[in-house]
Amino acid sequence: KKFKIGVLVGSLRKESFNLKTAKVLMEVAPKSLELELIDISNIPMFNQDLEGTPPEEWTTLREAVKAVDGLIFVTPEYNRSVPAVLKNAIDVGSRPYGKNVWTEKPGAVVSVSTGNISGFGANHHLRQSLAFVNIPTMAQPEAYIGGAADLFDEKGNLKNDSTKKFLTTFMEAFEKWVQTIVK
Ligand code: FNR
Repeated sequence: KKFKIGVLVGSLRKESFNLKTAKVLMEVAPKSLELELIDISNIPMFNQDLEGTPPEEWTTLREAVKAVDGLIFVTPEYNRSVPAVLKNAIDVGSRPYGKNVWTEKPGAVVSVSTGNISGFGANHHLRQSLAFVNIPTMAQPEAYIGGAADLFDEKGNLKNDSTKKFLTTFMEAFEKWVQTIVK
């Protein structure tokens, strides 16, 4: 069986190392997983007053999430936490109350940082929100990608085989996770 997997990237930067990592994940994913990026670059800030008349971008995001079987979050760490743009997308998808689009979609988290702590803070703050919106998030393997500024060549290819191998193993584990969760 094939599964559609939405990939959300927590950086809007054109040359984002997180986006580059997401593209590697798409490349190494097992054939049964069809990965596609879900764009969160233009989601108006959540405001409960707008729940009755939602901005078009909120609806588009909610429909895109509903259409996939699982989710991969690839995120930088901003000030030891989740970038606002990604947290906002999670908030928008979780509402109105009772219409949470994230629920029961198997998920995985990859954090990518130029630093040595490899986005640990963002990775785990994100897991806290994912637990509440009822995304069963793969526990192992964890993916903390550090030193990101040295990982890619000009074409966005990984320079070292060990990271590529690790991300391949990660995606194989995620395939099993999706098969376990999706009935
Ligand atoms: C950062 N960065 C950063 N890195 C880290 O390891 N821990 C942190 O808390 C932060 N905080 C932080 C805040 C803000 C506002 C910015 C812009 C950056 C550095 C960050 O890891 C680096 O810029 C990455 O390259 C961001 O990911 P992308 O944009 O390359 O995907």
